[in-house]
Amino acid sequence: MSKKPVRVAVTGAAGQIGYALLFRIASGEMLGKDQPVILQLLEIPDEKAQKALKGVMMELEDCAFPLLAGMEAHSDPMNAFKDTDYALLVGARPRGPGMERKDLLAANAQIFTAQGKALDKVASRNVKVLVVGNPANTNAYIAMKSAPSLPRKNFTAMLRLDHNRALSQIAAKTGTAVGDIEKMVVWGNHSPTMYADYRFATVNGKPVKDMINDQAWNKDVFLPTVGKRGAAIIEARGLSSAASAANAAIDHMRDWALGTGSKWVTMGIPSDGQYGIPKDTMFGFPVTTANGEYTVVDGLPIDEFSQERINLTLKELQEEQQGVAHLL
Ligand code: NAD
Ligand code: LMR
Repeated sequence: MSKKPVRVAVTGAAGQIGYALLFRIASGEMLGKDQPVILQLLEIPDEKAQKALKGVMMELEDCAFPLLAGMEAHSDPMNAFKDTDYALLVGARPRGPGMERKDLLAANAQIFTAQGKALDKVASRNVKVLVVGNPANTNAYIAMKSAPSLPRKNFTAMLRLDHNRALSQIAAKTGTAVGDIEKMVVWGNHSPTMYADYRFATVNGKPVKDMINDQAWNKDVFLPTVGKRGAAIIEARGLSSAASAANAAIDHMRDWALGTGSKWVTMGIPSDGQYGIPKDTMFGFPVTTANGEYTVVDGLPIDEFSQERINLTLKELQEEQQGVAHLL
């Protein structure tokens, strides 16, 4: 017997990430090839955006995806989030050249207050929320704080793009296959202060740090390359990353829903105090997932260099949180 459809809300559905995301969700790449989905798509009420959304839905229809059990267009989050099991909060302004993601806070923070409140009122009590819109960690924090009746653990921010970027850089440096690398971690904020940490990483069981053994490369090449990759894409494309961002969102939700086993992935999640990160800070941590729940990989040794980097990204997140305190 086929499974009951689940409801997947996607905001910013007519935007560039939306266009790279929806077809993959509808084809079963996110929740499994046996899981029918109903897409609940949200765009701003603006006539042009709603018309563009209709166009995307026409294309979805034309794919005749067997798993697409229904599709709805909305302009009000109270309708788009009704009974939703998964919510991918993508819709927000992207940054342009010369901006940092936190410069978007003033423009985007209101969106996540309103959407957090709507999720609180109408979403499934088990809803899994992924915030992609930037600055993703603080927007996820705002949404979580605006939804007091939902469990805090249901709110997450996307660090998976940084995690995937780090994997590719390490594979290139060591001449190994991305798929053979395990135990990568990206700590902290989705911003240039993030700390991509390969101290525990292995390739087919061999420690990556022994294969590289070059702290100058780590500090002067690897960390800036991963940390500033978003800006490099904007510089090259004239637009912020979209396909790789959508791919990371699929990876994040798939792993959360379907489980990673013992494999580590990075998720931005509200801290419970692990590694000295204050409770509720939406922080990138290494996690494993099973049965729809994530568990922080706790107790890893933190050396002096790593502690400095973690302190730096935490400080930035705390400043961002203070900047939005008046909204909460
Ligand atoms: P885009 O401008 O192409 O699309 C955004 C869409 O969101 C637009 O269609 C817009 O009408 C819609 N929108 C705006 N406000 C909305 C609201 N309140 N409700 C519903 N829809 C709304 O932008 P994009 O390239 O798709 O990027 C979207 C966001 O994702 C940006 O904030 C970008 O910076 C961020 N992003 C994050 C990551 C990450 O790793 N976390 C990666 C890439 C992009
Ligand atoms: C990215 O990392 O590519 C996104 O957050 C978009 C951006 O503004 O860099």
